[in-house]
Amino acid sequence: MALSYYAEELKKTAAAIARPGKGILAVDESTKTVGKRLASIGVENTEDNRKAYRGMLFTSKGLGEYISGAILFEETLFQNHPDGESMVNKLEKLGIIPGIKVDKGLRPLAGGHDVETFCSGLDGLVERAADYYEQGARFAKWRAVLQITDDGCPTNLSIQENAWGLARYARSVQESGLVPIIEPEILMDGAHDIAKTAAVQEQVIKTVYKACQENGVLLEGTLLKPSMTVPGADFTPKADPQQVAEMTIRTMERSVPASVPGIVFLSGGLSEEAASVYLNLMNKIERKAKWNVSFSYGRALQHSCLKAWGGSNIEGGQKALLARAQANSEASTGSYVTGSQPSSDEALFVAGYTY
Ligand code: 13P
Repeated sequence: MALSYYAEELKKTAAAIARPGKGILAVDESTKTVGKRLASIGVENTEDNRKAYRGMLFTSKGLGEYISGAILFEETLFQNHPDGESMVNKLEKLGIIPGIKVDKGLRPLAGGHDVETFCSGLDGLVERAADYYEQGARFAKWRAVLQITDDGCPTNLSIQENAWGLARYARSVQESGLVPIIEPEILMDGAHDIAKTAAVQEQVIKTVYKACQENGVLLEGTLLKPSMTVPGADFTPKADPQQVAEMTIRTMERSVPASVPGIVFLSGGLSEEAASVYLNLMNKIERKAKWNVSFSYGRALQHSCLKAWGGSNIEGGQKALLARAQANSEASTGSYVTGSQPSSDEALFVAGYTY
């Protein structure tokens, strides 16, 4: 099917996900990554346990008040809840649009620096996306990763390759009716200052949109998922929240076209509270473009929830999830009061993190 066939639907889907006061729950950890999360609470990484955990998330009553979309790993898109109903149905009952991670992970970038990667998964993507659409998915995610080092990263090669991959992916899934979430993550690893992050991020995002134009991507039917503009994790003094908000908005205003309906930030290792506070401050700044500025958090929505669930406490887990979902929903309209919802202040940053 040609992109033009889906154009109106893509715009509608993107606008529905980027509605004011709503954000995305990222639950697309690969089987290996979710295994690390489950191990942290002493739960074995079996299909039944993954199903029980995610089934708990997707039956949290009222979650749809704060969350418009959930990104799933392939296993979950085709999985049933322990009660026999499909996970897709559970989400739809809450008014949450199901999405799917379609990339096949990071690979070493030949010709780049040792730490540099490209994101794989383009082969057969139009066909795979059509299967996911058939199964109920309406949007997709692809995560490219760049790193700042003091010896020249990201290289131009890495910026070009990752931007091109994101644009090829975006065009490919749009051909099958899925709204692409375009995710050029810049890792927090390093000791660089915030000005360095801003300069790199501006160049990366501009390169991504140039590649999108060359590939004929329909921008109104896309969402951007960037990292926030923060100093490197080893930089001192620690990040100033107001400066992070201002530098992030400045970077977005310099590089993201106004036709993109929504920017949904990743949490990238920020603590739950910091992720809410930074987003809230961003939404207090008057902006030049009208994009909805919201969240697509994985760790910052699930950390205290996972702990509260602990393998069996459904009610406790759901309560913790709803608390962070509400906090971030408020932050997406600039009305979050710091500390008004329970959260964990634990830094979730892990150097060299792989998803
Ligand atoms: P974090 O919010 O944990 O960074 O995860 C979001 C995500 O989907 C990364 O690809």
